[in-house]
Amino acid sequence: MRSIFVTGGSGFIGSQFVRQTIAANRLNVVVLDALTYAGSRANLAEIADSERLHFYQGSITDRHLVARLLAEHHCTSVINFAAETHVDRSIGRPGDFVRTNVMGTFELLEASLRHFESLDASDKASFRFLHVSTDEVYGQLGATGYFTEETSYAPSSPYSASKASSDHFVRAYFHTYGLPTVITNCSNNYGPFQFPEKLIPLIIRKALNREPLPVYGNGTNVRDWLHVEDHCRALQAVLDNGRVGETYNIGGDCELSNIEVVTRICSVVDQLCPQLKHPSSSLIRYVTDRPGHDFRYGIDHSKITRELGWKPQITFESGIAKTIRWYLSHMEWASEVMRAGSYSLERLGLRSDASAESTDLGDRHTEEDLYQDIEGVSIIPRNFYKDKRGWLIELFRNDELDSSLQPQMAYLSETSPGVTRGPHEHVDQTDYFAFIGPGDFRLYLWDARPGSPTEGNRIVRLMGESNPAAVIIPPGVVHAYKNVSMKPGHVFNAPNQLFAGYGKTGSVDEIRHEDVENSPYIVL
Ligand SMILES: NC(=O)c1ccc[n+]([C@@H]2O[C@H](COP(=O)([O-])OP(=O)(O)OC[C@H]3O[C@@H](n4cnc5c(N)ncnc54)[C@H](O)[C@@H]3O)[C@@H](O)[C@H]2O)c1
Repeated sequence: MRSIFVTGGSGFIGSQFVRQTIAANRLNVVVLDALTYAGSRANLAEIADSERLHFYQGSITDRHLVARLLAEHHCTSVINFAAETHVDRSIGRPGDFVRTNVMGTFELLEASLRHFESLDASDKASFRFLHVSTDEVYGQLGATGYFTEETSYAPSSPYSASKASSDHFVRAYFHTYGLPTVITNCSNNYGPFQFPEKLIPLIIRKALNREPLPVYGNGTNVRDWLHVEDHCRALQAVLDNGRVGETYNIGGDCELSNIEVVTRICSVVDQLCPQLKHPSSSLIRYVTDRPGHDFRYGIDHSKITRELGWKPQITFESGIAKTIRWYLSHMEWASEVMRAGSYSLERLGLRSDASAESTDLGDRHTEEDLYQDIEGVSIIPRNFYKDKRGWLIELFRNDELDSSLQPQMAYLSETSPGVTRGPHEHVDQTDYFAFIGPGDFRLYLWDARPGSPTEGNRIVRLMGESNPAAVIIPPGVVHAYKNVSMKPGHVFNAPNQLFAGYGKTGSVDEIRHEDVENSPYIVL
């Protein structure tokens, strides 16, 4: 059975696609998801026991992880849902959107291209890279007209600018390298499992809590709404029969102003919850508009309808009622994802959120990365949770470490921007480093053990804030790292030996490599 690689498969649309694909019983599904605030294992809970589902936590920015998973599972298609997706958050923290949506898509394309080139002729013929994008790349419409596939890109938020950029890279990889890509640009989705920061689940939740229902500006901004099941059917049709190098617009034939959406939700909530005393619409409050709020999006989906026979099947009337019933019966789910995502229905997207923003992209994403197996070296993604209050990271887990590797001590070191911890190896100590941010490091490893099956192999890897990960480094493997960001970076170390301290008089465990002949290191 063939395997499809689904990035962002634990988010709203990605998880719907994964559930539909598992139900269709046609493919193995390999999910790679960073589990940001927007992704949750709970979204795949109902199919978690399927033998055809393989879940990995990790980032699309990690090219080597992607390459390994594509090869190990012999994937014959890739569908990219992974993204930062909330326009309001993009106003406060645009850098996150550049890192995942632009850099991440680039890394994913690179890994996919190498993998595609390794396939045999028959797998190459069927291989597809489907990039899931948005109608927001086209900018805004006035009262009339529709976006077609020929409409020029004119993104107006950091979110849509980052998606537009990723679309351009995907198209470039088709034209330049022959990677069989297809892009879809879809209108606003709604349905179950949507993170409660987005308009429809936010309004449902607030209406049930009897809280004020915020409507941006005067509420007349128009969006075209599509049920997520219809979107995923369209994506399957494009994967099956879409023409490579093409773009397909997907829309719901359902243009509604924001105030219409909110009043419809109010009336369904009132019908389903007769115990609520006042009409929900009495809770509506107009609030300061979103900066740069696009006025109207409208999709012409005649191309996908003509070529692939797809059209929306779920009316907004039936879809929204079904969706509200789902949220009513999944209040626990919503509470849990909000708790895990440190979100409590607060207003996002005011530029003041940006105070914590790092606009530093430094030299973190370069072409230097290299991965060759080194016996005894393990790289382990670390769980990293962050929100605007700060972050929390798992430094190590006992169940991941062999008994001989149990830490004897733990310490945290800070390395200034641009500084390198020079290359050295240990005689009998195994190092455990967790690169945890803030800051990003480039880690250099070299197997200098004579007779080792991987002697001479090297790893050069970016780790830290944008790729929180730990590494186990056995004796004889030379290691060095450099802070490649523009702020002080922290590294957690938990070696399996006690550090003797300065002035140690006994045998020295550490062999420095700065002057070793033929050392591959020129760490600038
Ligand atoms: N929701 C919509 O209305 C809509 C409409 C059109 C297009 N889209 C596009 O569809 C895709 C999915 O949207 P969604 O609404 O399901 O988003 P979502 O925010 O619900 O989910 C995004 C998922 O991507 C994961 N992710 C984020 N960064 C990652 C990284 N670096 N590596 C791996 N995984 C990462 C998150 O953990 C999450 O599971 C996005 O690309 C979005 O631009 C969404």
